[in-house]
Amino acid sequence: MEVVIAPAQELAALAADAIESSLRRRPRTVLGLATGSSPLKVYDELARRHAEDGLSFAEAQGFMLDEYVGLAADHPERYRNVIATEIAERVDWPADQVRGPDGLAEDLPAACAAYEESIRAAGGVDLQLLGIGTDGHIAFNEPGSSLASRTRIKTLTRQTRVDNARFFDGDVERVPTHCLTQGLGTIMESRHLVLLATGKHKAEAVHQLVEGPVSALWPATVMQFHPHATVLVDEAAASRL
Ligand code: GLP
Repeated sequence: MEVVIAPAQELAALAADAIESSLRRRPRTVLGLATGSSPLKVYDELARRHAEDGLSFAEAQGFMLDEYVGLAADHPERYRNVIATEIAERVDWPADQVRGPDGLAEDLPAACAAYEESIRAAGGVDLQLLGIGTDGHIAFNEPGSSLASRTRIKTLTRQTRVDNARFFDGDVERVPTHCLTQGLGTIMESRHLVLLATGKHKAEAVHQLVEGPVSALWPATVMQFHPHATVLVDEAAASRL
């Protein structure tokens, strides 16, 4: 695991560099997309490089990590809509090449299985962007998640709903109770993992991720087993290392 400590803006540029070099090497790159605030500066940087340097996503495929269950199709916090707004629509990325688990499907387990199959059919994820929850979750794999888990339905912890209430007018009751998420086993099959974390509130999770024992109690620790994992953190998030 490679750990880089740098100011937030530099971290975003480093993540964008990794994505850009993958796209330039192989335009059909399969990118794993994360939501939350951590990747936002990366998406800004990619949009800038698209506008100024002609970086193209026209042949790329995108797969989202997770999705809330039951949010209306036009809800701005539905992760599909977030990803469309934050990155896909700001570059030349055809909408049908960016996919996520279907949180509105009638048969949710079937939607999870179909999603796994679509990732496999695309040849697997080349580069997966990740954030980390304050409780050490990645995607929505909350503490206690099996380290070998696949895409499935999960119940969100109270802590994650409180953390994410800021996206729902500060009202925790509006945050959905369930989600669909790629499993830790699914995420571990990506060829390169790039995790971003900034701020003191992430320090304990980053400490566990890098230095803690591998345990389902801190799901991100499974990344210690990955052959190509890059952890990009600012001073505050690195303060317990
Ligand atoms: C959510 C997302 C995760 C994200 C985490 C951290 O729970 N499902 O993918 O990593 O929040 O969010 P943030 O980057 O806003 O701190």
